[in-house]
Amino acid sequence: MKFFVDTADVAAIAELNALGMVDGVTTNPSLILKSGRDILEVTKEICGIVSGPVSAEVVSLKADEMIAEGLKLAKIAPNITVKVPLTWDGLKACKVLSDAGHMVNVTLCFSPNQALLAAKAGATFISPFVGRLDDINLDGLELIADIRTIYDNYDFKTQILAASIRTVNHVAECARIGADVMTAPPEVIRKLASHPLTDAGLAQFMKDWEKTGQKIL
Ligand code: E4P
Repeated sequence: MKFFVDTADVAAIAELNALGMVDGVTTNPSLILKSGRDILEVTKEICGIVSGPVSAEVVSLKADEMIAEGLKLAKIAPNITVKVPLTWDGLKACKVLSDAGHMVNVTLCFSPNQALLAAKAGATFISPFVGRLDDINLDGLELIADIRTIYDNYDFKTQILAASIRTVNHVAECARIGADVMTAPPEVIRKLASHPLTDAGLAQFMKDWEKTGQKIL
């Protein structure tokens, strides 16, 4: 499973990228707001750090304006993925931009039928939002599993990009189900390394090592 980092925080992206943990980046208008940066500037900076797909989201609601925005965003760098919402206009924009050879990420997907439409419109990625479904007591991971089954049934090439990932359990479950990509905030990716038994085991090893009185360096 590829790891995308869900942030416009350049320092966090650079840190994780240096560890080989970043296969791509996703941003959205809320994350641009949080960064306090200009969308074109910060997206260009991110594309200079990460060679994989970097999603930049359009903000118009009409297809023709989404297409114009998408074409402008795509000029930032060759690895830009234009992110469009899962509305009828977003699907129209997806079809036009995909046919023109651009990568497209269709976002705000909450149902298998929406995912089916995105695949038929030529999306490179579909972004089902796991955490936001869990927030309203629905099962976000079940949606990932349903889309996996549907795409495999018909050999759709659209990649499942599990989004709105909030917990380490979400990450493991998405990998088990077979999501192609997951995007998570930097803090969730860092937490993947943590386990209480690792901490306890290391503490014991350090205690015993001290008792040996030895040094390696
Ligand atoms: C996906 O591309 C979105 O940017 C993101 O995953 C949304 O996550 P949230 O529901 O935690 O805001």
